[in-house]
Amino acid sequence: MKNIILTGDRPTGRLHLGHLVGSLLQRVEYQNNGDFEEMYIEIADAQATTDNAGNIQKVKENVIEVALDYLSCGIDPKKCTIFLQSEVPELSDLTFYYMNLVTMARLQRNPTVKQEIIYRGFENTIPVGFMTYPISQAADITGFDANIVPVGDDQLPMIEQTREIVRTFNRLYGETLVEPKAVLPKNEVCLRLPGTDGQAKMSKSIGNCIFLADTSEEVKKKVMGMYTDPNHIKIEDPGVTEGNPVFIYLSAFSKEKHYLEYFKNKETGEIEYHNLDELKAHYERGGLGDMKVKKFLYYVIEDVLTPIRERRHELEKDIPAVYQILFDGSDKARLKVQETLKRVKKAIGLDYRNDKEFINEIAKKYNN
Ligand code: TRP
Repeated sequence: MKNIILTGDRPTGRLHLGHLVGSLLQRVEYQNNGDFEEMYIEIADAQATTDNAGNIQKVKENVIEVALDYLSCGIDPKKCTIFLQSEVPELSDLTFYYMNLVTMARLQRNPTVKQEIIYRGFENTIPVGFMTYPISQAADITGFDANIVPVGDDQLPMIEQTREIVRTFNRLYGETLVEPKAVLPKNEVCLRLPGTDGQAKMSKSIGNCIFLADTSEEVKKKVMGMYTDPNHIKIEDPGVTEGNPVFIYLSAFSKEKHYLEYFKNKETGEIEYHNLDELKAHYERGGLGDMKVKKFLYYVIEDVLTPIRERRHELEKDIPAVYQILFDGSDKARLKVQETLKRVKKAIGLDYRNDKEFINEIAKKYNN
């Protein structure tokens, strides 16, 4: 079977290092080496309205931020179709029919939605659209016949929900939809990058993120202020690296070349640390200060972000051209989903215009 890849993000803020290691780099890798026929990336602006009905401006303004982040990370619109969810209204038609295949109880059990409800303080004021967004996400995925969905682990319940909808649909209406599978990042550290404050997740509402678009000065300030081992007070003290965000970031971003460059003694040519294991060992033994490790981390992150930042500045010079990429992608995406919708309506039995047999039958009934 030919692979069709689809993934997406809600445009509710700029993308950060958590997105970079958790999904963006994986997408670029897929795009460049992947074995696929079609690849789609959705800017899920319609989904973002489900908990932002009174704040559409925020969603609207962040569409371009996300698009700039995608393109500056190396997502290439020639290889990969970037589109706007709201520009593909057929997705809502699919959602409408899928809604009949899901119970309220099933929606209420979705762990991601449950958490989001608590987090947003919705409790008794949950918008119906928000409650049903997993169904709309199933439409996003199946509308493109996607079989591979690269996501972070918080999205696994959405993919599971999609698979159930596909199975129910195919059982009721015949083999029509493709059952997708989620693909998680390979490096475990990248599954969920902690915040700079050591909290479990980088989250813009907590303010513990390093954004892709941050300036070098902002990155420096954030790295130097990072949470580390709170009991590592004096340099000589032994330190803990496990769960220490500075070391987790190094494990996500540092490569051998960084050690060989940064820790090379200018005079003797000697290399102080060849890899993360050596650096960790010294920290754990005692005698390695947080400042030194943080300065190295800043160097590593800058090495990753500098080219991204430069590409972003180039792209920012022609914003209308970036919107045009989204519109062209949306036109292409729409054609694809229109085909799926036709197939779905035919499977359900709601394609009157092409169902001559049915019309003849009814006619016979009336004229016997
Ligand atoms: N729910 C995803 C998020 O919050 C965004 C999204 C919408 C998505 N549609 C999708 C992800 C389809 C993967 C596939 O980030």
